[in-house]
Amino acid sequence: MDIHQFVTAAAEKGWLVTIDKPVSVELELAAVAHALDGRPALFTEVRGQGSERQRAGVRTPYPIPNTQYPISNIQYPFPVLTGMASDRRYFALALDCPPDQILFRLADAFRHPQPAPLVESGPCQEVVMQPGDLTTLPFLKHWPDDAGYYATAAVAILRDPDFGLNASFHRLLRLDERRLAARLVERRGADTAWRKTQDDLPVAICIGLPLHVLLAASMSPKPGVSELDIAQALAPTPLTRCITNDLVVPTEAEIVLEGRLSHRLATEGPFVDLTETIDIERQQPVIEIDCITHRRDAIYQALLPGQLEHKLLMGMPKEPSIYAAVNEVATCTNVHITPGGASWLHAVVQIEKKHPDDGRKAAQAAFRGHGSLKHAVVVDTDIDIFDPHDVEWAIATRFQAGRDLMVFSDQPSSSLDPSAIHIPGQKSRSDKMALDATIPWDSADGPAHPEHFRRVPFPEVDLEKYLDDEE
Ligand SMILES: Cc1cc2nc3c(=O)[nH]c(=O)nc-3n(C[C@H](O)[C@H](O)[C@H](O)COP(=O)(O)O)c2cc1C
Repeated sequence: MDIHQFVTAAAEKGWLVTIDKPVSVELELAAVAHALDGRPALFTEVRGQGSERQRAGVRTPYPIPNTQYPISNIQYPFPVLTGMASDRRYFALALDCPPDQILFRLADAFRHPQPAPLVESGPCQEVVMQPGDLTTLPFLKHWPDDAGYYATAAVAILRDPDFGLNASFHRLLRLDERRLAARLVERRGADTAWRKTQDDLPVAICIGLPLHVLLAASMSPKPGVSELDIAQALAPTPLTRCITNDLVVPTEAEIVLEGRLSHRLATEGPFVDLTETIDIERQQPVIEIDCITHRRDAIYQALLPGQLEHKLLMGMPKEPSIYAAVNEVATCTNVHITPGGASWLHAVVQIEKKHPDDGRKAAQAAFRGHGSLKHAVVVDTDIDIFDPHDVEWAIATRFQAGRDLMVFSDQPSSSLDPSAIHIPGQKSRSDKMALDATIPWDSADGPAHPEHFRRVPFPEVDLEKYLDDEE
């Protein structure tokens, strides 16, 4: 399901909001999309200030949201779509499965990648602009303190000299008409490939990909497995060759930026990221753009940083890797990476407990399944892991800190956690904690008094019998 098909389906289901009034890329579009609280929104008349003021680093006193926005003098040739990834139902639609089965679909694709087929041509190359001008694309400025205009739904495809094709998300700061600064989190696939190469590394950046490709690009398969093959295992993902380099891109991409990841550095950030706090300024690699291709009727996709669509895309693909890691040591029945933990730092792991130690083992395995995880809670199968009150109830009634709390000090951790220790060029470090909130077992046979830990239900009643007719 490409973006156009998603827009049609979202309109049919009554999810889509279409905004035909002029909206500025400077703060306004992001503020309006935020106010829509994650509903998919198609902005058809997107305006900006023109290229001069769209250069990064130019700090202009933009008005804060809900005040007067600057009069914008150019209209972008592309409509902007936000909110496409902000609800599990949208992913379920794209994967053609119920929302609670998404984890198992992802886990299956993760285990059984399929080679994505190569085809002669595709819609993503209907229009070719060589070299192209980045200021014709409606990159957004989201917050007054951001360094400038960013692409947030950008998936960079590159080839690691040893491991082959890699596809991963990178926020991209526009520096000028031809150059971007890319945030490469240290030791992830793109950063590893970049550090191995002396010369410029060819790259193809796709903006506006089908949801199943976005999910695959958020996964971290083992070296040698391409995220594009995981995408193919989720839904057909034909690929076609780039115009100016030998990389391949999904034909259904709306816009493709072909270029080179260079070893020149530029200041990237500040940028308000996943945790809704300001991520710092860093020296990051510059991407030089050689060619822009796009569909004739391309839609530019934007992901609101720190909001539900960013959170779901970050967290959901890590659920299957936690699930797989926990299943190596216990019986895992489900995993939820919770939005309250920025959909990255906190997970609730549900297990079918069969041994006294299963809760502890599951907690430790969860950290192996997702390296950025900071806090894990392990619960039994009677707990609804999608209901925070139910999880808290399990902690309140089954957990004893002296017995069930595990603390792991000074661990490699997420670069996005403002409370972690961040030293430039090194992996961030933080303390981690796991709570085994499963029912404690007294022996290998189970708890001596399981009934003490069960919620006692009220009997069902037929309310009709008790309420007055008019109520
Ligand atoms: C919306 C979104 C934005 C992201 N932005 C970045 C980014 O700017 N830099 C980065 O290195 N990773 C970013 N990521 C994370 C990577 O895409 C993700 O961790 C991926 O699994 C890394 O894959 P790899 O280990 O193969 O590199 C982002 C993920 C999402 C969903």
